[in-house]
Amino acid sequence: MKIKNKSGMILSVAGGKGGVGKSIFSVALGTKLAMDGSSVALVDLDLGAANIHTYTGIIKKTRTIADFILKKVPSLEELLLETTQPNLKIVSGADFVPGMANPAHWMKLKIMRHVKALPADYVIIDLGAGVHFNTLDFFSMSDRGIVVTAPEPGAVMNAYSFIKSALFRRLQNIFRRDPDIGPVIDAETKKTGGEDRFTIEMLTEKVRTLSPEMLPLIQ
Ligand SMILES: Nc1ncnc2c1ncn2[C@@H]1O[C@H](COP(=O)(O)OP(=O)(O)OP(=O)(O)O)[C@@H](O)[C@H]1O
Ligand SMILES: [Mg+2]
Repeated sequence: MKIKNKSGMILSVAGGKGGVGKSIFSVALGTKLAMDGSSVALVDLDLGAANIHTYTGIIKKTRTIADFILKKVPSLEELLLETTQPNLKIVSGADFVPGMANPAHWMKLKIMRHVKALPADYVIIDLGAGVHFNTLDFFSMSDRGIVVTAPEPGAVMNAYSFIKSALFRRLQNIFRRDPDIGPVIDAETKKTGGEDRFTIEMLTEKVRTLSPEMLPLIQ
């Protein structure tokens, strides 16, 4: 079934470190946008460690994204729950459901198709900590990404690693099937910290020589 894109801007909230305030920030941003008159759907995609329902005061048992992943409901839209803030609805994440935290790639694409179909001016996606492929892929499929950190060295360094990982994952996905550039990027995954790594400038030069038609994608 083809579903229609109905959402406005999709914003992802992430950050390398756990506990730095990603979920609180997502709720605060959603609340502010809703108070200013926009319709907002806040989607908890911290699969396996969901908090948005708790932070928006939803304590009764509700349907969650697990019902969508396990095909008990046909669309994410059906999972939208009202909150006490007018204009702000949420899709609750799952409490522990075995296997939920690692959906297959096709399921991630399906989730994002349904996120794009949510009827809201803004969709805010709250993501988990770390640089798990799930997190990087949801982040990369959004229109805008927000990286939250705390003012302490560990959190700042993890946020920096997160940004690099997200960029790398995006390049990997874009050039996966390119016979010239794909292997150049994949070779990077086999290097350790001590070796020279490519920079975007180096990669741009390689693309300019090997597949100039791909240059706009890098830029
Ligand atoms: N701006 C803030 N000022 C003070 N405390 C905060 C702030 N933001 C978040 N907190 C508190 O820090 C704790 C962690 O916040 P939160 O759950 O939003 O972090 P998180 O990055 O989403 O964590 P996780 O990685 O587990 O998803 C909570 O107890 C929250 O109340
Ligand atoms: Mg969180």
